[in-house]
Amino acid sequence: MLFSGKGGVGKTVMSSSFALSCARRGEKTLLMQLNVKDKAASLFGTEEIDTEIREVRENLYAVNVSPKAAMKEYALMVLKIKLIYRAVFENRVVSSFLKVIPGLNELVMLGKAYYHVGEEDEEGQPVWDKVVVDAPATGHGIFLLKIPSVITGLIGSGLMFEEARRIVELLQDPKRTALALVTLAEEMPVNETLMLSDVVNKEIGLHVACVIANGLYPRLFTDEEIQWMDELGPSVADPVGGLVEAARFRRTRGAMQERYLQKLRDDGSWPVVEMPFLFFEELETAVLEELASLLERTLKSTEARSVG
Ligand SMILES: Nc1ncnc2c1ncn2[C@@H]1O[C@H](COP(=O)(O)OP(=O)(O)O)[C@@H](O)[C@H]1O
Ligand SMILES: [Mg+2]
Repeated sequence: MLFSGKGGVGKTVMSSSFALSCARRGEKTLLMQLNVKDKAASLFGTEEIDTEIREVRENLYAVNVSPKAAMKEYALMVLKIKLIYRAVFENRVVSSFLKVIPGLNELVMLGKAYYHVGEEDEEGQPVWDKVVVDAPATGHGIFLLKIPSVITGLIGSGLMFEEARRIVELLQDPKRTALALVTLAEEMPVNETLMLSDVVNKEIGLHVACVIANGLYPRLFTDEEIQWMDELGPSVADPVGGLVEAARFRRTRGAMQERYLQKLRDDGSWPVVEMPFLFFEELETAVLEELASLLERTLKSTEARSVG
């Protein structure tokens, strides 16, 4: 499962909640963040999550992938011997050469995700039931998802071609990869989501599994209450003037979200999953648990609807 979308819309919160809901169902889950400032750690209330995979909950493991560490793992798998790795990759000329190959960082990070998807234990059983990737924001996200097919288009054979081809196949297989786009019900994020969906579909051949509309305000007022507010006129005297003002503001925000939610439903070919705005106080973990439950319930009913 891959999560992408505009920056700050809740990709990390949603991918973490989703990973948590999988783990709670008993699936052994790996949550991968791609080279970002670690945030999942504070969400799970654990120590820093770095390039080593660590258990953060029962059944839930997390890692923050860096291109450098992923490259080292990959090279060691291919080269087998540490000494050769050092001689080759810790050579200044080679490492500065690797730094300037465009897309190589992205390829090795996706390569690591690919590796874990197919990873097997000694008995030949899959190690992971789910691999959840918190992908970068829109522009970089597109670049990341595009790079394997760009590479297979540019070169026709060899180690890198094979690696990229396998990743393209994994990404394009709707049975193995689900892409969730996260958005807020606001103008810019919604437009960006529609654009992103179009690009990943047409240019990368990726199927969007769902769009998560995050941060929604629950409906507060009945139709009668709204009518009452309208009939009060523009300014209401104290002591309830401020309250009416706040209620109107809240209602306008809600109506705006409703409009953009409708736009998503009208313009898209995917199910829209609705997630509420929750207040994060000190207990971020509790909020995450709650979002995980909500996400699980909503996804289940979305699945049921799209199947039935
Ligand atoms: N459903 C929600 N309710 C309340 N706050 C949220 C919700 N989802 C995300 N946030 C807050 O929004 C901010 C951005 O979320 P984050 O997941 O880091 O975004 P992204 O990974 O897309 O940049 C964070 O401060 C997070 O706590
Ligand atoms: Mg993030």
